[in-house]
Amino acid sequence: MNIGIFDSGIGGMTLLHQAMAALPLENYIFYADTDHVPYGTKSKEQVIGFVDEVMRFMTAHDCKAVVIACNTATAVAAEEMRRKYDIPIIGIEPAVKPAVAASHGRRVLVAATPLTVREKKLQKLVERVDYSHLVDLVALPRLVELAERGDFDTGEAGEYLQKELSGYNLENYGELVLGCTHFNFFKDTFRKLLPADVALIDGSDGTIRHLKEVLCARGELESEKRTESPSVRYFRSGRELTAQAELEYMRRLHERLERMHEIS
Ligand code: DGL
Repeated sequence: MNIGIFDSGIGGMTLLHQAMAALPLENYIFYADTDHVPYGTKSKEQVIGFVDEVMRFMTAHDCKAVVIACNTATAVAAEEMRRKYDIPIIGIEPAVKPAVAASHGRRVLVAATPLTVREKKLQKLVERVDYSHLVDLVALPRLVELAERGDFDTGEAGEYLQKELSGYNLENYGELVLGCTHFNFFKDTFRKLLPADVALIDGSDGTIRHLKEVLCARGELESEKRTESPSVRYFRSGRELTAQAELEYMRRLHERLERMHEIS
């Protein structure tokens, strides 16, 4: 049996990368819905349709659980998919609660896609945990485009972020929530722009923890030791990546994520 992990694009590799470290005996299917990326600038109805298509693919590919490694897809489609499909569906969400708890009264900036920012799910979450009205939301859709193009070191992300964050007095913030999985690829750029005491936080640790608990409770954690490293099959909107060059690119993305993981 497999664990299915999907996102609109490469952002979800953040979750895959951490899941492989936490649960190395499992088999993974990683699905990037690149025919439809970005989700964050589309309508709720469109995204629900895309997610449904991915869920059908996952259930047809022997998945015992699916991780929605996309904050946008979780916000608009997770509940509906849980009603429709019988397997556990674990969705990443912006880490607003731990960020508010860790900010000790300083402001919290939540960066996400325009659709996540507009959605009730995030607004309700903020209402629930933000007693002192410390949370601000900002949409950064261009980072998704840059990540998909692999423009990590061209300086474009830095210029874009500098402009988008210029309206915030960053000295007043304690935490910046990376509420879109694509943003993890730019932790180095965020780090350069933010004051040193503003912490970066995202929801992937909590999501992996939850995945592990769910599989454990169902007695479905893989326990057989294999000599090979965790097995992953990569798909782009249903087409499996088999060419050496494509798999090599995935390997390089994992390397980048390993470096980004060190940055907090
Ligand atoms: N990576 C996704 C997220 O976490 C969405 C990016 C997009 O397709 O707009 O929200």
